Amino acid sequence: MSSKLALAVMVFAMCLGCWSIVSAEHHGMYFGRVRVYVNNLIAPNIWMDIHCKSKDDDLQLQTLAYSQNQTWSFKVNFWGTTLFWCGMGWNDDTGRYVQGSFKIYEYLRDYSKCDGICVWNAKKDGLYFLNPDSRNPPELMFTW
Ligand SMILES: *[C@@H]1O[C@H](CO)[C@@H](O)[C@H](O)[C@H]1NC(C)=O
Repeated sequence: MSSKLALAVMVFAMCLGCWSIVSAEHHGMYFGRVRVYVNNLIAPNIWMDIHCKSKDDDLQLQTLAYSQNQTWSFKVNFWGTTLFWCGMGWNDDTGRYVQGSFKIYEYLRDYSKCDGICVWNAKKDGLYFLNPDSRNPPELMFTW
């Protein structure tokens, strides 16, 4: 074998190995689009600030009236590192600003839970996750 051919074979074998590691990590490998909704369901007359970001996107500060949502969609990246987080806050009855910063979408955590639409409902006690395609009731994932 010429050394060039040997090198080509070696590189090819390494690529195959690398590919199998990547696909094993992704299990079901969902590479479609994901749409996220974050609903303000805190209480009538309570407005909620929300500022969501990824490494590449900044969705800017938004303020949602009660029962409004912020929604956006994105394609998960090949490396499975897609991550969005949101800072959120609202004033409670006593005027105290209640706030938190939450991972709203993380590929390895979420690809099997919401491979299409991910819904978050912000309530007084925290953030509830919901997959509208499943029969599961909303699940309290984060508290303020
Ligand atoms: C988003 O908000 C609209 C308007 O309130 C509502 O009709 C819709 O159901 C919400 N979407 C989701 C997925 O929660």
